Formats: sequence, C-alpha cells, structure tokens
Amino acid sequence: MTAPVNLYDSHYGHDQDAVYRAVRAETYDEDLGQTSWLTAAELDRFTAQLHLGPDSHLLEVACGSGGVSVRIAQRLGSRVTGLDRAATAIAAAQDRAHRAGVAARTTFQSADANAELPFTEGTFNALFCNDAINHFRNRPAVLAEWHRVLRPGGRCVFTDPIVLTGPLSDAEMRARSSIGDFLFVPPGFNEATLQRAGFEVLDAEDTTSAVASIASRWLAARQRHRPALLEFEGESTYLELQAFLTVVARLAGEGRLSRLAFHARKPG
Ligand SMILES: C[S@@+](CC[C@H](N)C(=O)[O-])C[C@H]1O[C@@H](n2cnc3c(N)ncnc32)[C@H](O)[C@@H]1O
Repeated sequence: MTAPVNLYDSHYGHDQDAVYRAVRAETYDEDLGQTSWLTAAELDRFTAQLHLGPDSHLLEVACGSGGVSVRIAQRLGSRVTGLDRAATAIAAAQDRAHRAGVAARTTFQSADANAELPFTEGTFNALFCNDAINHFRNRPAVLAEWHRVLRPGGRCVFTDPIVLTGPLSDAEMRARSSIGDFLFVPPGFNEATLQRAGFEVLDAEDTTSAVASIASRWLAARQRHRPALLEFEGESTYLELQAFLTVVARLAGEGRLSRLAFHARKPG
C-alpha cells in the first residue's frame, strides 16, 4: 500500500510561513488557515445555523490549524473546543489562539474522531465539522457520538465533500482519495444516517460549485509559488498535491462528486 499524499502535515507544520499565507490569500476570501473548501462568507452562514452566542460551547471536530474556532471565539465570545488527529494542527491552533488573544476561551486537543470522544454526554450546545467527515471510517458510529455529546436542542453542521453524484473511474477515485482514509457515499446516505442517529435534518445544501472554484484558485496559486513550495514539500509531494487539486476541480466542476452541507438538530 502506498503512503497517503501529505496534504495536512505539510501545511500545518508551516501554517504561518509566508508562502502558505500567500497561497491562502490568493485562494480564499479570508485566510483562516484552511486546508479545505470553506470560505469565511460560508462560515458566517454556518455559524448562524449553529445559534452560537457568548454562553455557547462549540465542539469543532477536525479543526485543523484552528482558524474557524478562533474566529468564532473572537467574534461571538463562545467557548470552543477543537480536536484533530494531527499533532501539527493542534500546535498551530494553540499558537493561533494565543496570538488572537482567545486562549482562555479555546481548548485544542489531539483526538481520533473515529473513537469514542473524550467528553461526557450533553457537553456541547453545537458541533461543527468542515470537510473532514469523509476521513472517518464508520459514519453511523461517528454521528451517534456527535449526538451523544450534544445537549438536547443542540445544533450540528457538517460538510461532506465526497457525495458520489456521477461516475468516477478507479484512477479518479484513487487520485481524489490520495490524501488519506476516504469514504465515498451515495446521495441520501448522510440524511438517513443522521436520522438513524437521532437527529432531525433541517437542511442539506449543495455547495459543490465552491469546491470547483477554490480548487482551481488553490492550484493556480500553488503554481505561482512553486519555487518556494518546492523547498518545503520537495518535488514529489508538490506534484502529487497539484495532481490532487486538478482532479478535485474537475470532478466538482463536472458535478460528479458533490459537496453538501448538512444542518441538523438533536431534538429536545
Ligand atoms: C480537509 S481538512 C479540514 C480541516 C479544517 N476543518 C478546515 O476546514 O480547514 C481534514 C482534517 O481532518 C483531520 N482528520 C483526518 N482524520 C481524522 C480523524 N480520524 N480524527 C480527527 N481528525 C482527523 C485532518 O488532520 C485534517 O485536519
């Protein structure tokens, strides 16, 4: 088995280096340290769905380098706990929270979202997970865990960028999933699994067009910064990531792989 293409550690380890900041500035409307298809404008819509305020406690699953958690703690005064499997992500998130002056309201910890979460039942008012659920192996178990750690009435918003809405060749599947564990799911799977876990599904929004444009901009920005990126990544990782972004842009542009945003509520 070949090793996954190193998207996450290569980015989180150099989160604040000038070249990665420049690439994000040229890719997104706002640099949140993303390694995903999320813009700040979209995050603001998701945040409104989560009904957050100063008394809320949000869990961000797969928080990456913490830009989302820190922005929410800063703007809304909420308490935020972020978890991610990558130790480099947690270090970058803690550093970001200190620099932003919200370290007292944020906690970042390394944890595997496939496992039982290290929180008691009903700990959180809201849960957010952006572009990461496709990396978790057992979706029914993961959504049941999210339901357990939410309080009754709690809101959950997550995106799934890997909903299969057209034919993919084996080579395309391999290229799209080259960055790690991957689950390709059919349309309707998330809604049915949310319901089985006890959630009420409030909305499912197709956000695929954003993936096509962000992947194209990310690809072009990395091409412009190729010499500096080669120093950090080496030629083979650089080229593998360019190949990955090329296939992401094509599959989203042709609507064969879709990204959906789900908004759900734990009844009560
Ligand atoms: C596409 S990135 C998204 C990160 C962040 N949410 C964002 O929007 O930039 C996917 C994230 O999932 C994390 N991840 C992958 N598998 C995981 C697991 N089993 N448990 C926790 N985090 C995981 C990766 O380390 C990475 O930070």
